[in-house]
Formats: sequence, C-alpha cells, structure tokens
Amino acid sequence: MLSGIRHAHSGLRWIVLILLLLAIANAFSGWRSKKSYTDKDKKIHLFAMIFVHIQVLIGFISYYLNLGGKVNFGAIKESPMIRFFTVEHMTMMLIAMIVITIGFSRSKKIKETPLRFRLVFMTYLIGLVLILAGIPWPFRAALGAGWF
Ligand code: HEM
Repeated sequence: MLSGIRHAHSGLRWIVLILLLLAIANAFSGWRSKKSYTDKDKKIHLFAMIFVHIQVLIGFISYYLNLGGKVNFGAIKESPMIRFFTVEHMTMMLIAMIVITIGFSRSKKIKETPLRFRLVFMTYLIGLVLILAGIPWPFRAALGAGWF
C-alpha cells in the first residue's frame, strides 16, 4: 500500500504532463483560431487541472508519511537532495497548482472566447514550466529519482 503511493506519485507525472500538453495545445488553437468555447474544451481543461490536484494530494501524503525518508527539515543545509524534496519540490508544485487553478476558475467568468482560451493557455503553460522544472528527473544527478 505504502510503496503503491510512491509508485503512483512517480508514474502519475506522465499522465499529468500529457493532459497538460493536450490542454495547452487545445487552448492555443482555440485562442488563435477564435473558435467558440465548447463543453468539450472545458472538459479537457478541467481534466488536466483535476489530475494536477490528484498528484499534489498524493505528493502531500508522501511528504507527510515521508515514505522515502527524503523530507527532513533538520538536514536541509547538509544535503541538496533533502532540501529539494523538503522545500523546492513541494513549493514549485504547489505554486504550479495554484496558477493552474486560478487560470481555470477565472476563465469560467470570461465571456469572450479568445480571451478565455488565452488565459487557460498562459496559466497552464506557466504551470507546466514550473512542474517540468520541479520534477526530480534522473538526469539531475544530485536528486537520484527514476523515470517512472
Ligand atoms: C504536479 C505535481 C507533482 C509532480 C509532477 C511530482 C512528481 C514527483 C516525481 C516524479 C517524484 C520522484 C518519484 C520517484 O522517482 O521516486 C516525486 C517525489 C516526491 N514528491 Fe512529488 N510531485 C508533485 C507534487 C508534489 C507535492 C505538492 C509534494 C509535497 C507536498 C510532493 C512530494 C514529494 C515527495 C516527498 C517525494 C519523494 C518521494 C519518495 O521518494 O519517497 N510532490 N514527485
């Protein structure tokens, strides 16, 4: 069960990234082509936001339970890896989630469709950049995480 939480948090990153890319591509094409905002567009944007929320929730469970022993406020100064998971990873992902959530909820109040698409495009893109920068990719040697 506990290792399932760790694996879910690691693997779910790919679903989050794919859904965000789909939502961003959809918002960009809607904005540029000036098409009207439909229920299908809303579902694509909502779905991406929900998966970011699920991922953040699982992240908080991992953080609280400290399953991999990587959260330790007392060792922040000694280890860049501990500092990354205790402070940087959590903060960047939380900001990304807030930006995406604000983008989606504010977009619901916008009547002009190109502007609605544009807001989703901008905020989801900022969220995606923060998430990409906050993932402990295997090529970031000091962090030592995997691809899945
Ligand atoms: C969209 C948001 C997030 C994404 C895409 C994400 C992604 C990841 C990835 C890919 C790993 C490495 C897993 C591995 O290879 O073992 C990881 C680890 C971790 N994440 Fe997140 N994360 C997100 C949000 C959060 C948040 C908000 C928190 C804390 C509140 C958090 C806490 C952790 C912790 C503690 C670990 C280390 C887990 C371990 O090794 O036991 N994550 N995260």
